[in-house]
Amino acid sequence: MAAMCPALLWIFAIVLNDGSKNLNQTVVFQGGGMKTLIIVSHPDFAHSVANQRIVFRVKEALPEVELRHLDTLSPDYKIDVAAEQEVLLGADLLIFQHPLYWFSVPASLKLWMDKVLHRGFAYGEGGSRLKGKQFIHSVTMGGPQESYSPEGRNHYTLPELLRPFELMRNLTGMHHAGTVCSYGNTFVADSGHSRAEIQATADDHAAHLVSCIRKVAKGS
Ligand SMILES: Cc1cc2nc3c(=O)[nH]c(=O)nc-3n(C[C@H](O)[C@H](O)[C@H](O)COP(=O)(O)O)c2cc1C
Repeated sequence: MAAMCPALLWIFAIVLNDGSKNLNQTVVFQGGGMKTLIIVSHPDFAHSVANQRIVFRVKEALPEVELRHLDTLSPDYKIDVAAEQEVLLGADLLIFQHPLYWFSVPASLKLWMDKVLHRGFAYGEGGSRLKGKQFIHSVTMGGPQESYSPEGRNHYTLPELLRPFELMRNLTGMHHAGTVCSYGNTFVADSGHSRAEIQATADDHAAHLVSCIRKVAKGS
């Protein structure tokens, strides 16, 4: 069995890598006429276990969803603001997919928000271009669920930590269509959760995310 594991992992890596090739396809999920855009932020996607699996599973279930991996599109952190805004304008449902980094988003997503969601576009005078769009936040945590509570190590719940994004939604006029989260996702070889356990958690996470997307598409 031990001798088989590397071979199985290798085969699985090929399958996942094949799925990740589709990351930047400009194709759109049109369930019920709805266009879904997933903004993926992860600085080391090639070594991701949770986010890579979630994205692969969602794409498998909903092939037409548009995925934009910020760190692939702008590896030098130079964002094509006009191109990003054009894609955003075409979407009915916007999803942020990322690991929690220092209780917030990875750098590429923070920069994307700072540059793309600017005054006159996303908020302020004349800035109502995102108004009425749906928004889902999909985030993976390394820490265990019990650490995200008033009694836990991190003191705050996830909704409390994600309050800046609630305020972003309010300011831009987007509707909250759900938060999908999973905990205990840190994979360290030979300690903590196994790769298989994290992938199983990611499968549940992806199934929940797909169900949220379908609900929005159905208008419920
Ligand atoms: C720079 C950095 C910061 C992190 N900050 C947090 C954190 O604040 N809270 C947490 O629960 N996990 C944190 N983690 C763990 C990641 O969230 C976790 O490894 C990730 O969700 C696993 O997803 P992946 O397999 O797609 O990388 C951090 C990891 C890194 C590398």
